[in-house]
Amino acid sequence: MDRAELARRRDIAAGLAAEAAALAARMRAEGRGTASLKGTQDFLTEADGATERFLRDRLGALFPGEAVLGEEMGGEVAGDGPLWVLDPIDGTSNFARGGDRWCVSVGLVAGGRAVAGAVARHAPSEVFAGAEGSGATLNGAPIRAAPTEDITRAIVEVGWSLRSPLAGFHRLAERVMAAGAGLRCGGSGALGLVETACGRLDGYLELHINSWDAAAALAIAREAGCWTTDFDSGDWLASGNPIGFGAPALAARLAALLQA
Ligand code: IPD
Repeated sequence: MDRAELARRRDIAAGLAAEAAALAARMRAEGRGTASLKGTQDFLTEADGATERFLRDRLGALFPGEAVLGEEMGGEVAGDGPLWVLDPIDGTSNFARGGDRWCVSVGLVAGGRAVAGAVARHAPSEVFAGAEGSGATLNGAPIRAAPTEDITRAIVEVGWSLRSPLAGFHRLAERVMAAGAGLRCGGSGALGLVETACGRLDGYLELHINSWDAAAALAIAREAGCWTTDFDSGDWLASGNPIGFGAPALAARLAALLQA
């Protein structure tokens, strides 16, 4: 897929993600954002399913026959062809409690790599977007990772889920704080990752995250000059991986914190 086609698809992803976020917000306002539990601290609302259905229908009409993998409805991950990777609502726990820290993530994978994507937030109205070779933007304006060089000035988000042993999360958070960084844990991995790409955060570290949470953010972050771990490797689409993003000058420090 050439650069122009990737940029065209990025723009489509950005428009669809923003529309999907508006749909989810409308459903919540109508009282259809109440959560049930898929497992401990694993929330699902009626809006998650409806938003993924919306994205699948629109992508199916625009790109007939292309594969789609989504958090709620699954999908096939085999082959090198284009694959759309969707998180209809990332930060569902915040969404279900009436908070604003949630987003819709639409990523595009080609040849097994994350190559383009968009992450849209409803309030504030923000669309992060990127495509390989064409840069990364927030609401159309170019973004860059933070220039931070000193870990004692850094703000680092540490993502949490019950997919990894709790002790590992505790140790990671302790290492980040012992290094002198300020700690955050905001409940939306996709937002934490793109906020690192645009320099609001100096790092995002998580011991395991799923492909739908991070595919779009990875394509955006690489274009924003962010340090990123090799997330789109191995069996990442089906099984996820550990992830680290950060200010480029802090790369070695953050990598050591993630791996220790
Ligand atoms: C979760 C959130 C959370 C991250 C987890 C994700 P969900 O996604 O992004 O911040 O730490 O790894 O599973 O359940 O809100 O879509």
